[in-house]
Amino acid sequence: MDPSPNATVHVLNGVNLGTLGKRRPAVYGTLTLDDIESLLGGEFPAVNFQFRQTDHEGEMVGFIREAANADGLLINPGAWTHYAYALHDALEAVAVPKVEVHLSNVHARESWRRHSVVSPAVDAVVAGMREWGYVAATRYVLEQRRG
Ligand code: DQA
Repeated sequence: MDPSPNATVHVLNGVNLGTLGKRRPAVYGTLTLDDIESLLGGEFPAVNFQFRQTDHEGEMVGFIREAANADGLLINPGAWTHYAYALHDALEAVAVPKVEVHLSNVHARESWRRHSVVSPAVDAVVAGMREWGYVAATRYVLEQRRG
């Protein structure tokens, strides 16, 4: 059951995630971002999702600030995860339940993917559950709202 009517959850997808579906399906799965948005809508019909993607880091900073009054924020920063301190600082300034989501298991891949500069600024990290990581992260932020 969907526990949170009227909740707003921002789902922010970063660099290169607009090519999901075509990009390395063995690693990231075959779903597009639109498919993931539909999956969330089906799983949580009463939630207002603000679903976004950008390849521009400054635009992502703006998206993070826009989530300041939301009930939750999910972010898959893509490769920015590993070096974008500006995203860390923007996330740190937003006091809502926040989850970093990765489709792939970043810990089982190249060594440079094992480090996230964003993780210290979020509440939780999900990696390797493909699209279900977005579902699990949504469930988590909604539970925080219920208290
Ligand atoms: C990713 C993992 C990152 O290392 C990579 O650069 C991405 C996608 C993931 O969802 O698994 O673009 O964030």
